Amino acid sequence: MVGRFRCCRSQRIFVICLLGLALAVLLLSPHQSRPSKYAHFNESNFTFLYDRGIHEAFYPHLQHYQCREVVSQKALCQWDLSPKGLPLLLLAITSHPASHSRRSILRRTWARPRDVGGFQLRHVFLLAMDPQPNLALHESDTLGDILMWDFEESHHNLSLKERCFLQWMHRHCQQAAFVFKGDDDLFVNIEALTEYLHQTPNVSKFIHGNVHYRSAVQRWGKYAVSRAFYPMLVYPNFASGGGFIMPQPIIPKLYNASLWVPVFPMEDVYVGFLALAAGLRYRHDKHFRVWGPPRDELDVYQDSVVVHGISMERIEEVWKQIQRVLVRKKLSLATQTTKNIRTA
Ligand SMILES: *[C@@H]1O[C@H](CO)[C@@H](O)[C@H](O)[C@H]1NC(C)=O
Ligand SMILES: *[C@@H]1O[C@H](CO)[C@@H](O)[C@H](O)[C@H]1NC(C)=O
Ligand SMILES: *[C@@H]1O[C@H](CO)[C@@H](O)[C@H](O)[C@H]1NC(C)=O
Ligand SMILES: *[C@@H]1O[C@H](CO)[C@@H](O)[C@H](O)[C@H]1NC(C)=O
Ligand SMILES: *[C@@H]1O[C@H](CO)[C@@H](O)[C@H](O)[C@H]1NC(C)=O
Repeated sequence: MVGRFRCCRSQRIFVICLLGLALAVLLLSPHQSRPSKYAHFNESNFTFLYDRGIHEAFYPHLQHYQCREVVSQKALCQWDLSPKGLPLLLLAITSHPASHSRRSILRRTWARPRDVGGFQLRHVFLLAMDPQPNLALHESDTLGDILMWDFEESHHNLSLKERCFLQWMHRHCQQAAFVFKGDDDLFVNIEALTEYLHQTPNVSKFIHGNVHYRSAVQRWGKYAVSRAFYPMLVYPNFASGGGFIMPQPIIPKLYNASLWVPVFPMEDVYVGFLALAAGLRYRHDKHFRVWGPPRDELDVYQDSVVVHGISMERIEEVWKQIQRVLVRKKLSLATQTTKNIRTA
């Protein structure tokens, strides 16, 4: 009895070891042979577990959509408007198809194509479909500054604009030195923006904007995500989608990441995951006032790169005021120089 028991116990141990080994092989091998269902993203001492299966279960459309351009603007970055051959600063502006009046205000204010601060400025509006796309299509025919994809315009679908825009940049606009990406309800001080680009050390190494560090996940409200979908308490660092800057060397890295990182249903967090996967860094700057101006006065706008939360009428007003100040400065500088030449 005892002998037999002993014999069986060692056999059992052997079988258990064999099973354990098989289980280990089963668990480990998928990680080596095919793309992992999980990805670990490490940010300093914090690890994000990214579960592809859960992304597919909750937001299948975001994962499977193939970017189809209804209007593609293949040549947008190829026209050289600047006789001086200045580097291209592209403004990529997220807009709803129905927001015609916002777009027309931006075209005659800060998004107006021109040479400014050592850059040639060009803009493109990023649109998806709404039930009446014809008006936007007509606008695109006449103005040539609209990029449109065939998915439905919606809050969660905004992440698709990010993914499809990166693909478009990869295919049609690798020459842009900088891309400013923002919403159509912003005031952007282009002169301050170009100055920022010139003055920031190592500017091409970072994503620039209003950076949210370890932002808490919300379970209620407009930006809620369910615990079942994303159980972690914080997001990776990300720049507010209101308005941020991507330098040229960073864009192919984000694009590469977009080919395998699952799409998160919030567009700025999604870009945060792409940046994390690509090992990119941020530079936070307080001049990106995505929370609105501290005071509604001209000096605040003069001292900002981006201001969110003001009316379209105010955007137009502020832009005109800033331009007038700039013209006055130029004039006084010119008279100063003439005076200096005369006295010399
Ligand atoms: C991130 O951390 C996890 C857990 O500590 C580790 O298993 C994984 O290999 C790390 N990934 C990278 C890309 O460093
Ligand atoms: C991670 O780093 C932060 C600050 O850098 C620190 O407050 C936190 O305690 C660290 N967490 C762990 C688990 O080490
Ligand atoms: C996103 O777009 C797709 C395709 O147009 C549509 O079927 C889906 O309902 C949209 N998603 C949301 C959340 O609106
Ligand atoms: C710019 O980057 C270089 C190389 O990484 C570094 O040595 C230098 O300190 C950086 N300059 C500033 C002002 O951060
Ligand atoms: C993007 O991925 C391709 C293929 O995996 C690689 O050859 C290329 O160097 C990557 N580019 C960047 C900027 O990471």
